[in-house]
Amino acid sequence: DKGGWSSFMAKEISEEPEAVAKTIIGRVEDGLVRIPELEGLDADTLRDIDRVVVIACGTAAYAGMVGKYAIEQWARVPVDVELAHEFRYREPVLTERTLVVSISQSGETMDTLMAVKYAREQGARTLSICNTQGATIPRESDAVVYTHAGPEVAVASTKAFVAQITAMYLFGIQLGQVRGTLDDSRARGLVRELQAVPDKLASVLASGERIREMAKWMADTQSVLFLGRHVGYPVALEGALKLKELAYIHAEGFAAGELKHGPIALIEPGQIVFVIVPSPRDPNSLHAKVVSNIQEIRARGARVIAIAEQGDAAVLPHADEVIRIPLASPFFEPLLAVVPLHIFGMELAAAKGLDVDQPRNLAKSVTVE
Ligand code: BG6
Repeated sequence: DKGGWSSFMAKEISEEPEAVAKTIIGRVEDGLVRIPELEGLDADTLRDIDRVVVIACGTAAYAGMVGKYAIEQWARVPVDVELAHEFRYREPVLTERTLVVSISQSGETMDTLMAVKYAREQGARTLSICNTQGATIPRESDAVVYTHAGPEVAVASTKAFVAQITAMYLFGIQLGQVRGTLDDSRARGLVRELQAVPDKLASVLASGERIREMAKWMADTQSVLFLGRHVGYPVALEGALKLKELAYIHAEGFAAGELKHGPIALIEPGQIVFVIVPSPRDPNSLHAKVVSNIQEIRARGARVIAIAEQGDAAVLPHADEVIRIPLASPFFEPLLAVVPLHIFGMELAAAKGLDVDQPRNLAKSVTVE
């Protein structure tokens, strides 16, 4: 039931705030993270692991990339992210101190399932982040943290993505608490930031109308690029994937720092480039670097659509359009910045008269290798 929305995708994007909120519920106690379902992996095990390997496909893999940045920072454990279908065929090095975290909305993706089984056979610990109760992948894992995004019907994943990042963040905070790399006051601060995301997301949804107008004038475009840095990089990849899946437009996401090493050669007058701009308060000063990337591509004739924090005036002289997101500390920006890109993918497909819920050649869950 589309509940009055024009598509399941429109409905599911509107549910992104709720997907985050519901994934947090029941997992915070006295301001700290306590995920009851993690019992299959007790505190000793969590202290003992020396590496995390995230395996997933598609959108879920991008959620894993966002999680990597956070888990490394908060729990000081090395994290690798791998596409599940590449993982198993190269004899990856796994030990009983490796924690393999699979991320899957359906819990049935064959590539991911086979990678989980392989990891178990090699003696690794396995944690599943999954949106579907009782699915095969969680049943094959030592522990499962369910994302509570609710059923996702549209083939292109949206609300599951923000719920997956939320689950990865909860896990990363708990890991940091258990391993002593996050003290209570820092952990509590991160929990508060996460709990503030749903309200902020609700205000991002309000930019939907403007994005629809933008999508209309872009309906004939042949190629769109997306740039981001740090946790904004996987968001750029996700924005590009949505355009390929939904609007059949050639789209690519790049790490903004990579621009000068190749992709800038693609920029010619009229090229549309979305740029996810880090906050001006970013401790790594990535904001200035990304603003200078914008200047470089603008000087070559690109049309720049910046996704930038409220009040960031530095982008104004250089961008053709600015979509605003509420203030948040760097790790919480991807949850906000991705929503305009989800809306954009959907609206561009709609402007081209395409079926946004059921794109050609794709299935919601791919149960063959
Ligand atoms: C693809 C879907 O086939 O599988 C994507 O079209 C999804 O939307 C990917 O991100 C992974 O699926 P799952 O269910 O394992 O998260």
